[in-house]
Amino acid sequence: MPRVCVIPGDGIGQEVIPAAVRVLQAAVPGLETIQAEAGWGCFLERGTAVPPETLAAIRECGAALFGAVSSPAKKVAGYRSAILTLRQELDLYANLRPVRSLPRVSPRGGIDLLVVRENTEGLYVGRERLEDGGETAIAERVITRRASRRLAERALALMHGAGRRRLTIVHKANVLPLTDGLFRDTVREAVVRATRAGQAVEVEELLVDVAALKLASEPERFDVIITTNLFGDILSDEASSWCGGLGLAPSINLGEGVALAEPVHGSAPDIAGQGIANPIAAILSAALLARHAWSMEDSARRIEQAVERALEDGLPHGTEAITRSVTGNLCVGEN
Ligand code: NAD
Ligand code: IPM
Ligand code: MN
Repeated sequence: MPRVCVIPGDGIGQEVIPAAVRVLQAAVPGLETIQAEAGWGCFLERGTAVPPETLAAIRECGAALFGAVSSPAKKVAGYRSAILTLRQELDLYANLRPVRSLPRVSPRGGIDLLVVRENTEGLYVGRERLEDGGETAIAERVITRRASRRLAERALALMHGAGRRRLTIVHKANVLPLTDGLFRDTVREAVVRATRAGQAVEVEELLVDVAALKLASEPERFDVIITTNLFGDILSDEASSWCGGLGLAPSINLGEGVALAEPVHGSAPDIAGQGIANPIAAILSAALLARHAWSMEDSARRIEQAVERALEDGLPHGTEAITRSVTGNLCVGEN
């Protein structure tokens, strides 16, 4: 029986994750849940943003549903965003961020794209330092063949399973020929291997600046975008406007034998505690867990269809009303 480690985190994570768990439990009968802590609140209370028992619980379940965590704008000694620690500790190397047109809330129909973001290196390796008495700040950006290769192979395998054919490699190798050149070439080599093995893949390359423009002006042209960590972070927020905004954008972080699903949005302190956060991003993230962690495609589709029906009915106001509308629509067509 599938088990999920539930980590609401901070701010609206505490509101949208219980909503998503209700939907997931309705779609996956017998699902077991284990609650765990992480985030800024946890750091203030316990002196650690990711307690060891949280990591142990995720490893044990192999699957986690994470809300969001807050980070102070200034550096606080000993604190690092819990989500970054989780991605690193669990080696969650592929971050999938699908964006689809949704009824009534999307500005356009016909969009169905997937951003595959490298999730362990790039500018996220945490190697920043001051030199020159604080007059110079340096950040290292690390790209490895190993991480680029496993990301590309995972993306290609997912494309094969999902019948997606078009892969856009997004990079900035004109300015960063060594780092982004390595990423681009490694992805291309993986495509050649997949093609030799019989997979139909059309590959193209875009520099990240023009990719950002095309994502804003011709989103329908994209199928799968594969890119490095920071570019994927930025482009996925940009792309989320096509599904209707951050409140509707899901994601899942994949490693080997472990997956952590999370809405793309953060802890939204501006609306936290008011019961008005949109739980759909979290609910759709739960659907990704069913699909990618447990291979329960039917349950994933049922959740996604329930969300679509709820949106067609016109989205009610407030976390609770939206959750009820989705769970109500989950029952339609069950028998
Ligand atoms: P945010 O995503 O929290 O909020 C951006 C805007 O979108 C806000 O106006 C917010 O009200 C709105 N919004 C976000 N989710 C919504 C929802 N479900 N329903 C309705 N409106 C929603 O980004 P931010 O304001 O830049 O960051 C706030 C905090 O969250 C920061 O501490 C940041 O570090 C953190 N953060 C965490 C994660 C994560 O844990 N994965 C991701 C992004 C930001
Ligand atoms: C995301 C977030 C995180 C990131 C932050 C909160 C560290 O923006 O998941 O997209 O930059 O990866
Ligand atoms: Mn982001």
